[in-house]
Amino acid sequence: MEDKILDGKKLAYELNAELKEKISKAVKKTGIIPKLITILVGKDSASKTYVNIKQKTCQEIGIDSKIIELDENISKEQLRDEISKLNNDPTTHAILLQLPLPKKLREYTPDFLEQISSSKDADGLHPFNRGKLFDYNEELAACTPKGIIKLLEHYDIEIKGKDVVIINRSNLVGKPLIFMLLKRNATVTICHTSTKDINEYIRKADILITAVRQPNFITKDKIKEGVIIIDVSTNRVEGKLCGDVDFENVLEKCQKITPVPGGIGPMTVAMLCDNTFTAYKKQVNIS
Ligand SMILES: NC(=O)c1ccc[n+]([C@@H]2O[C@H](COP(=O)([O-])OP(=O)(O)OC[C@H]3O[C@@H](n4cnc5c(N)ncnc54)[C@H](OP(=O)(O)O)[C@@H]3O)[C@@H](O)[C@H]2O)c1
Repeated sequence: MEDKILDGKKLAYELNAELKEKISKAVKKTGIIPKLITILVGKDSASKTYVNIKQKTCQEIGIDSKIIELDENISKEQLRDEISKLNNDPTTHAILLQLPLPKKLREYTPDFLEQISSSKDADGLHPFNRGKLFDYNEELAACTPKGIIKLLEHYDIEIKGKDVVIINRSNLVGKPLIFMLLKRNATVTICHTSTKDINEYIRKADILITAVRQPNFITKDKIKEGVIIIDVSTNRVEGKLCGDVDFENVLEKCQKITPVPGGIGPMTVAMLCDNTFTAYKKQVNIS
């Protein structure tokens, strides 16, 4: 069964090691260390954990990573000022606004994302970078979809001509994936809470990408024999991390599957580091 696992943790480790080499060479050439600043508003414990994981990985590979922690009662104007300072700071090459924002600020999320300089957009969520995906340009694209594609390609999983079903239509996951998969000639179907007969779509999928936030949403009886499953969700059940898939039972019927943890999570962090390096290279004018 081991050979069925799409090991995101292992691949992320390898990609990070390669990136560390590239960063070291670039720093020798320019004398400038790539810098990522993460803005964390409020005290959400899951966000804090994610931010710390990202910072640790960045530091291990030679990215100067700092976290600016802001009070959850900060005003919209104060947050705008912080972003503005970072946009204007030439030593900051990449900016990450950790989401979700506290409730009071959440409705302005699109405004803050748009305010971040598109060339410093570590998360690939600026409207300009999202728009570039229409032209299949993935240079600074969203990290999770980028990580999914990297993982599929690393394992030589054919995407061309496949029926790919994505259960999620968020800006972070489903929407960017549409373009990345079309670019690679898949037939893409997006499902969501208003999809009629969702099980019909799930049963037809050659590649199934799920991010619905529901443990055991995907069970053995719903899937096609030999399907490839990408489980993006990070649910907590009794303190333990799990995805949407009834992993143990689905394992024998699928061809390949990502574990949770150890699948898409580490790939997302690797792509954040990759985006940071891309943003840095553009700003220090190296290729
Ligand atoms: N590993 C990582 O690095 C990483 C990165 C990003 C996200 N995630 C995880 O991925 C999950 C999704 O994140 P998100 O930000 O995209 O969440 P989200 O915005 O809440 O999106 C959830 C999506 O699932 C759909 N959905 C929910 N219940 C459904 C149902 N019963 N049937 C069909 N569709 C259903 C929703 O449909 P509607 O649009 O109709 O509501 C929505 O499109 C979360 O667990 C998150 O933690 C992990």
